[in-house]
Amino acid sequence: MLVIKGRVFYRGRLEPLSIGIDEGRIVAVRKILRGDEEVDHGDALVLPGCIDMHVHLREPGLTEKEDFASGTRSAALGGVTTVFDMPNTRPPVSTRPDLEEKAARVRGRAAVDYGLYAAPRSGSAVPRLLGADAFKVYMAESTGSLQIGTEELEEVLAASAEADRLVVVHAEDAGKFTTPSTRGLEGHHMARPKESEVSALQLLSKVRGEARLHVAHVTCVEALDAIPEGATTEASPHHLLLDFRRDLKGFGKVNPPLRPPEDRDALWRAFVDGRIDVVASDHAPHTQEEKEGPFDEVPSGVPGVATAFPLLLRKVKAGALTLERLVRTMADRPAEILGLPKGLIEVGRDADLVVVDPRRTETVRAKRIRYKCGWTPFEGMDACFPQTVYLRGDAVVEHGETAAENLGRPITAAKR
Ligand code: NCD
Ligand code: ZN
Ligand code: ZN
Repeated sequence: MLVIKGRVFYRGRLEPLSIGIDEGRIVAVRKILRGDEEVDHGDALVLPGCIDMHVHLREPGLTEKEDFASGTRSAALGGVTTVFDMPNTRPPVSTRPDLEEKAARVRGRAAVDYGLYAAPRSGSAVPRLLGADAFKVYMAESTGSLQIGTEELEEVLAASAEADRLVVVHAEDAGKFTTPSTRGLEGHHMARPKESEVSALQLLSKVRGEARLHVAHVTCVEALDAIPEGATTEASPHHLLLDFRRDLKGFGKVNPPLRPPEDRDALWRAFVDGRIDVVASDHAPHTQEEKEGPFDEVPSGVPGVATAFPLLLRKVKAGALTLERLVRTMADRPAEILGLPKGLIEVGRDADLVVVDPRRTETVRAKRIRYKCGWTPFEGMDACFPQTVYLRGDAVVEHGETAAENLGRPITAAKR
């Protein structure tokens, strides 16, 4: 048995404890444990590994932006031990053969555990997609043009309910988009206004039927107020920490857009108050060349898988957020929604652990987090990066650097 010691986040609080691990699973959590091998992390925090249920690792077909190896390596550096990867690739993952091909392509190349989403374009595609962990639907155009009309949406929702699969929704209603005279990030916000989120959510409430829904990247409190009953909600670090006043130009262009500072603050308060189920990065890298182009042509999306947890842990240290809320939204709750035996330090769960000393603040540098795209919209911000990260008991990060690269395994989201 391997024993890992430290200040462990266990049942909602920090205590000096020992975690016993056998065959990748947690088998004991006690004050004192003896093992064949013992690693003492002193008074560093030991937290459950984060589960990022919304990343775009760009395979197949868009690997100039990111790939499975590079994206999962960055994930591990940021304390993320499980990712769920989006289907808006080239070609997209829309059918069972697409999914099988993708699974074969990425197998053995991931540094952390992973699940794969599919994007059915009609209800008839769903039964053929039962191998997928969960589905993504786009109600409006975003990278990959996978948007579907209301009729297809209804079909997909009904078929997903039948198959008991989670549906992650990109909720923007193109009917509410405008063509503003203002340009840049503020113009992008006006072009895809908050009302388009609210309107898409109202439509979703009408047509959802029995579908199990998760609403991705909510940007404002008005959207939270319009969430269909029983649906879970997700916020992304860029909407919680950035706004359109930042001088990011095309590098801050994302869908749904960065909002004004007032909306960011209100979203943050809602997050602190427990109104948001999940924080997920919506890691959506594009190359620097693409992001430097004329604003109207710049593709939307910002990378974030490596910085989500470190930036928010720094906020915990600053007293702006509780550790409990951070762990709940980045580990425990996503595990619950996806039905994974992860996300908590408890006997029987996978030994995915993040070891971090919150007294050590670092500045976010793109180089440090090794994205293939080579940039981050959070450059220069304070963060607390993990020192050690364990994936099912194996160290995938040590001394803040990659220690093992190919240990990630495919995982399947449970049915309800
Ligand atoms: C995403 C991308 O680039 O894949 N872009 C984005 O702005 N969020 C697509 C998406 O999830 O909307
Ligand atoms: Zn989206
Ligand atoms: Zn996305």
